[in-house]
Amino acid sequence: MNANSVSPIPNYEYFLELLEAHDQSHLLHFYSELSVTEQKELLAELNEQDWDTLGQLIERYGKAYTAAVDHYDISPAPYYPSEPSAELEAKYKEAIKVGKSLIAAGQVAAFTVAGGQGSRLGWEAPKGTFPATPIREKPLFQVFAEQLKKAENDFGKAIPWYIMTSPMNDADTRSFFKDHQYFGLDAKNIMFFPQGTLPSFSKEGKVLLREKAHLALNPDGHGGSFKALKKSGAIQDMKRRGVEYISYCQVDNPHVKIMDPLFIGLHALDGADMSAKMLPKAHAKEKVGNFCLIGGKLGIIEYSDMPNELAEATSDKGELLYNAGSIAIHMISLAFAESITDDPESLPYHRAVKKVPYLEVETGDQVQPKEPNAIKLERFIFDAIPLAQHAFILETDRVEEFAPIKNAEGSDSPATSRDLQTERAARWLEHIGHPVPRKADGGVDAMIEISPLTASSSEDLKGLELPEIKPGDKVYL
Ligand code: UD1
Repeated sequence: MNANSVSPIPNYEYFLELLEAHDQSHLLHFYSELSVTEQKELLAELNEQDWDTLGQLIERYGKAYTAAVDHYDISPAPYYPSEPSAELEAKYKEAIKVGKSLIAAGQVAAFTVAGGQGSRLGWEAPKGTFPATPIREKPLFQVFAEQLKKAENDFGKAIPWYIMTSPMNDADTRSFFKDHQYFGLDAKNIMFFPQGTLPSFSKEGKVLLREKAHLALNPDGHGGSFKALKKSGAIQDMKRRGVEYISYCQVDNPHVKIMDPLFIGLHALDGADMSAKMLPKAHAKEKVGNFCLIGGKLGIIEYSDMPNELAEATSDKGELLYNAGSIAIHMISLAFAESITDDPESLPYHRAVKKVPYLEVETGDQVQPKEPNAIKLERFIFDAIPLAQHAFILETDRVEEFAPIKNAEGSDSPATSRDLQTERAARWLEHIGHPVPRKADGGVDAMIEISPLTASSSEDLKGLELPEIKPGDKVYL
């Protein structure tokens, strides 16, 4: 569905005047050379941008930019532990009950952000199409779809799934799902919508052209979710279905538990606006956001913005003071998401200087810069956390819930993710007493893949007929 009202795109003269007022008329330099179709495409792209706001952003983050990070009054953030203390035990039990009943009542939707460019992974297609699992090489989207199918079977209720794409990968994402018959889900319960874009601009504040008829656009960050949820009609669709809670995840982590009764239930019981899952960081500089209390409010300082002295600070016992790392898993109340969309300027922008290929207007040459040449602006979803009246963090286990695929090699790569997937499968089997061969260093001496359709925890493996696993075996359950 699409709730956008289509209004006509203004003409060339309108944009010439507008762009001259913003000192950006070079964007129309090649207009007369373009075909009629290309002219329309360029005007449509120009029409997508709010030039007054963009003008202010260029002013603020361009030439005049000075980094102003207020690291005042920062302290470590408290969290719900993964293993409940005696006084929390009853609450966790109650939360699981509440979470299950909310899922069964259809009040929880899944939301996956899949609009990123995946450049670090070097995968040209949408990241969700990346073959992720160790044996069947199921794409990330299939892993999530099968989780939702299992939840639908377990809870007797279909779960609506909202997938945010970008204008660059929207068509490919849709056709991927269509080609795979939506991985067994009913297409009526899946809604795709593209996030917004922002143009990259030079350090002198000039918006860049990628080609004669196209701006150099980049997705506006997953913080653009709020705007895109509203613009696409997704929020309306959720309301129509009686959804009250959004379970948010990124496309890069096959271990995310999309429908986690404990997390959902705690969020509902606490009347939280936005909640998050955390892991103790592997080391001080792990590339994950850092949960902190900033001026008394829960928030995340991204790894790239975290001052070294804070990242490395330790307690008397030698433990990291800021050990709570974000794995980008959130529960968001629909009412809160809507309040953010009502104020589109509520989230800040983050600035990055990147190598952005562009068309030089003076010469008409295509330039592949060797050094970072352009400013990209993005918004982050987690900047909404400090705007929440109530927000909390829940600790979780690394192997259970975090096996991200971000880089082509090294940490957070397809290889590390496959190992973690095998390790989690082995633990689930061992937990119910089924032996798994292990090497001297403790690693699993086999490759094991458990389909999300078979089990969402070790509990689901009980009572199944399981094969004997010998060293070096490949086992798909
Ligand atoms: C992200 C988090 C980091 C967290 C880590 C955990 C950000 C900025 N940082 O780091 O705090 O600890 O994950 O895995 O997110 N995406 C969009 N649209 C965009 C940009 C990104 O949909 O415009 C999606 C991507 O498809 C991807 C996810 O957001 O799934 C993460 O984005 P990325 O910029 O790669 O962040 P990370 O460095 O992975």
